[in-house]
Amino acid sequence: MKNRVSQKFAELYGEGAVLFASPGRINLIGEHTDYNGGFVFPGAVDKGIVAAIRLNGTDKVRAYALDLEDSCSFGLAEEDKPSKSWACYIFGVCREIQKRGGVIGGFDTVFAGDVPLGAGMSSSAALESTFAFALNDLYNLGIEKFELARIGQATEHNYCGVNCGIMDQFASVHGKAGHLMRLDCRSMEFSYFPFDPAKHGYRLVLVNSCVKHELVGSPYNDRRKSCERVAAVLGQQFLRGATMEQLEAVKDKISEEDYLRARYVIGEEQRVLDVCNALEAGDYQTVGERMYQTHWGMSGDYEVSCEELDFLATVAEQCGVTGSRIMGGGFGGCTINLVKEELCDAFIATVTEKFEAKYGHKPKIYPVVISDGARRL
Ligand code: GLA
Repeated sequence: MKNRVSQKFAELYGEGAVLFASPGRINLIGEHTDYNGGFVFPGAVDKGIVAAIRLNGTDKVRAYALDLEDSCSFGLAEEDKPSKSWACYIFGVCREIQKRGGVIGGFDTVFAGDVPLGAGMSSSAALESTFAFALNDLYNLGIEKFELARIGQATEHNYCGVNCGIMDQFASVHGKAGHLMRLDCRSMEFSYFPFDPAKHGYRLVLVNSCVKHELVGSPYNDRRKSCERVAAVLGQQFLRGATMEQLEAVKDKISEEDYLRARYVIGEEQRVLDVCNALEAGDYQTVGERMYQTHWGMSGDYEVSCEELDFLATVAEQCGVTGSRIMGGGFGGCTINLVKEELCDAFIATVTEKFEAKYGHKPKIYPVVISDGARRL
C-alpha cells in the first residue's frame, strides 16, 4: 500500500511527500456505550489508511483516492465543502483544526486503505485520524492526541451526518500493538490492557457478512436520541451509571422502544466491566459468554443487527466458538469471534460453507492483529 500510494503521488504531484498511516479498530466489548458516557474496550488493527501528503503553499487541497480512482479539489473555507462524500472527511478535519485555532494551508495528497469499508471496523475514523495526525505533524500545531480524536469525531458530526461517540477515533489515534484500551467515555480516562489471547490458546477472528453498513442516514442517530431521552427522564446527563431498577421505575414514562434501548445499554455497561475482570483472571469463558449476551442484546433490544449477523452468531455458537457478536455500530459488517485455537480452522470452514449455502456468497474472514495507532511512516 505504501508503495502504491507513493508511486501515485509521484506520478500526480511529484516528489517530496511524507507518508502517514492510521488504523481501523476492533472492539472486544462495549458497543453503543461511548455516547452514553460508558466504557469501551477497543484496540487498533493492522488494517487502515495510508496517505502521502505534501504541503503545496496554496490555499487549496488536491486529493486523490487511489482505491476509488477519484480526485477532488477544494478550498479550506466553510463554503468550500466538497460534494464527494469521501472528500468531506478530509475537508471536515481541516475545518475542525481551523476552528480550534490551527493555521493550515493547502496540500496535495494520495491515500489508499485496506480496512474494509462498511464492515464496522472504522474505515472513516482511520481516514480522519490519518489527516488529523498528519496536519498536526506537518504544521507543528501541538494539538494533543486526544484532541486529534475529537477532531475526527467532530468531523463525523458536522460534515458527515453521524452523531458518533469517541471510540473509533480514540482507538485509531491511541492504538498500541498487543494492547486493548479501556476508555471511560465520561471521564475520558483510559488504560492499556496487554491482550494476548494466543497465550491462553485463543484467537480473535472477524467474519464479515459483507452486508454493507452505512451509519450515515442510518438509525444510528435515532438510537442515540432514544438513550438521551431516557437519561433525561432519569435526570442524568448520560445513561451511564443508571441501574435496571431505576429504569423499571420510569418504565411508564418512556416508550417501549426507548425502554428496550436503555435496557441494552445498562446491561452492556456491566458486561464491559465483567469482561475486564475476566480477562485479568484469564477467564476467557466468561469473556465469551458476555460477547454472546451483547450480540443478542444488540439484536433484540437495541435492534442494530440483521439476519446475516444473527446467522453468523448462531453458527458460531453451534461450532463451539467461545464468544461471538456484532462488532461496531451494527446494521451489517462483521462479527468478532473468540475462538479456541484448535477449533479455528473447523469454524472458519463451517461458517464459510453454511453462510454461502444460505446467502449465495462467502463471508470474508480476517485474523485480528492488534497494532499501533496513528503515525508518521
Ligand atoms: C460506531 C460509532 C462509535 C460507536 C460504535 C458502537 O462505530 O462510530 O462511536 O458508537 O458505532 O459501539
